Amino acid sequence: MSTISPTPATPDGHHAEAVAVAAERRWAVVVGIIMGVIVLLMIFAGVHWLSMPPSRVETVNVRTLHLQGEFVEGNLGTAVDGDGKVTVRLVAQQYSFEPQCLVVPQGVPVTFRGTSADAIHGFIVGTTNANTMLIPGFVATFTTTFPRAGEQLMPCHEYCGIGHEAMWARVQVLPREEFMERARHAERMSCVPR
Ligand code: CUA
Repeated sequence: MSTISPTPATPDGHHAEAVAVAAERRWAVVVGIIMGVIVLLMIFAGVHWLSMPPSRVETVNVRTLHLQGEFVEGNLGTAVDGDGKVTVRLVAQQYSFEPQCLVVPQGVPVTFRGTSADAIHGFIVGTTNANTMLIPGFVATFTTTFPRAGEQLMPCHEYCGIGHEAMWARVQVLPREEFMERARHAERMSCVPR
């Protein structure tokens, strides 16, 4: 890689060449040390994350997704638990979301929990900050609040195959009272026909 440029033909020619070679060696050592430190950091970070995965990473078995556990069909949609916490559970697959239409309250924190049954998908709800990737084997979760009532589109935003463009769901943001009234009568909710 390193080449020594021809030294001017002076009486001192040999000496100048030796100085250049020594300088190049010094810099090679410096660069070598920097590279060594970077490689050591990469190894350290890799081993560290392997032995201590971030606590927020939740995994789920893709093979049994539809058969047992949190993401069985009857458990998808919106649920309000005893202390009023609102949770939306959904599954993405080529090329649709289940449920196809989500219902959430206005002005109340909503926790999304989602995963994918096949490829990497993602979604964003209208112009809100509800936005995540859905990766097979992992549970994506975030909490957000929808300030305005109304209906929003929820397209898949990760290219997931030929049907990607047609993969989207809808989100109905209901006024808080209307939502809570419905929640009193249903364990799992999806959209109201309007
Ligand atoms: Cu699913 Cu793009």
